[in-house]
Amino acid sequence: MSSHIQIFDTTLRDGEQTPGVNFSFEERLKIAQQLEKWGVDIIEAGFPASSTGSFKSVEAIAKTLTTTAVCGLARCVKSDIDAVYEATKEAAIPRIHVFVATSPIHRDSKLKMSQDEVLESIKEHVEYAKQYFEVVQFSPEDATRTEPDFLLKAVQTAVDAGASVINIPDTVGFSYPTEYGKIFKTLIETIESDHEVIYSAHCHDDLGLAVANSMAAIENGAKRIEGTLNGIGERAGNTALEEVALGLYVRQDHYQNQSKINLAETKQTSDLIARYAGIRVPKNKAIVGQNAFSHESGIHQDGVLKNPETYEIMTPQLVGVKTTELPLGKLSGKHAFAEKLTALGYDVEPEEQKVLFKQFKEIADKKKAVTDRDIHALIQGTSHEQSASYQVDTLQLQFVSNGLQSAVVVIKDKDGNTYQDSSIGTGSIVAVYNAVDRIFDRETELLDYTIDSVTEGSDAQAEVHVQLKIDDQIVSGVGIDHDILLASCKSYVEAQAKYVNESTEKEGIKS
Ligand code: KIV
Ligand code: ZN
Repeated sequence: MSSHIQIFDTTLRDGEQTPGVNFSFEERLKIAQQLEKWGVDIIEAGFPASSTGSFKSVEAIAKTLTTTAVCGLARCVKSDIDAVYEATKEAAIPRIHVFVATSPIHRDSKLKMSQDEVLESIKEHVEYAKQYFEVVQFSPEDATRTEPDFLLKAVQTAVDAGASVINIPDTVGFSYPTEYGKIFKTLIETIESDHEVIYSAHCHDDLGLAVANSMAAIENGAKRIEGTLNGIGERAGNTALEEVALGLYVRQDHYQNQSKINLAETKQTSDLIARYAGIRVPKNKAIVGQNAFSHESGIHQDGVLKNPETYEIMTPQLVGVKTTELPLGKLSGKHAFAEKLTALGYDVEPEEQKVLFKQFKEIADKKKAVTDRDIHALIQGTSHEQSASYQVDTLQLQFVSNGLQSAVVVIKDKDGNTYQDSSIGTGSIVAVYNAVDRIFDRETELLDYTIDSVTEGSDAQAEVHVQLKIDDQIVSGVGIDHDILLASCKSYVEAQAKYVNESTEKEGIKS
């Protein structure tokens, strides 16, 4: 039996099913590498049969990772299984996750299959997958709304066909801890097998119970937890894996089981995914939210000063929240900047450091004190901009207090080609966005626009998040800049660029 709780990360598959989240190929690869550094056991890198983009990124991730298993999702369809085999065959540790829905509502309304047909399909496809993979994971989708007797039959069929991991999805986030835990207990006591079977939990957060349900599964024998960083995912999201890892660590007295997560990489992993997903982590989010380690009331502050353990059950350092004493300023040189990067936990190549230092100087010229949070934002923003297919080159605006505003936007692509256009609008941001739309030659619907400041104070940098609908695709972008209008423009171009990346229809750009 596995002696630790395995962490199965599905940020790149279920997480990417979050409306508006569309990771590019480069982002998927960087996320996978960071997840390996974070220490997850298995990465569900995608659903290879669903698109060429998914296939290619699963394939690239499989070729890149060395210690983490790379898994692909497949329906009970032979061509899906073939696609996972092809995409993962060069992985150090290839894995497959086969699923079919078992609940009455899914059988009758979606699959139009009887119970017997579902059982036959499970047998046929798990056996088929077993020809290619040493370890086959099977999921009865919507398990928690499946008749208990039929769920047992479905799982027994999968185990008999060779599945050695049984994942129990609470697909619609319907279950509650005692009920979900009992499913594991019953399965473990009832299912017969001539080989070791690992039971795995996969929860959705529709009722806000995903983490609680996952922990209940552990209490009842589950040895694997599936989820995503920051809990991103379909609808209300999935189990937030950082909460599971810290729950196991802080309450080891109770759970008596550990994950192999490198806790000190937690904050960095969460930040990277928040940035690429374009979804800010709420300030009060457990473990990784900005307020997770701040103390507001006088009584709490007094207690923490006397002994941090009065109000802190874990330290910020434990999860990699690194803080330094002194902010940098415009007189800070290369050396001080390099030291700050190291103190904040960044290991940056000399060439990239030069670029960052130049950007840091630009911020320092406009801001009295460059804080740790400015540096984090700078690093995330800059490394992202460098790999983006399009970047804002110049923005020029004319503002009239009682008329239409006008904007000229110049963007450049990775090869240095520039594209420009101008437009008017009822406001400056509308004018900028109209000009960008003209460059990309697309009809775009702005679904969401939010602006926040990276730090406090009137000289703070602005962080703009946008979500756009182009055709039927929802894409998001983030822009950070001292100037609100430039930050708005950057976020919009990033979102537009993501659409181009996905469909590779570059001919839309006018020169
Ligand atoms: O939530 C779910 O049921 C899933 C399956 C594909 C496992 O994500
Ligand atoms: Zn799911």
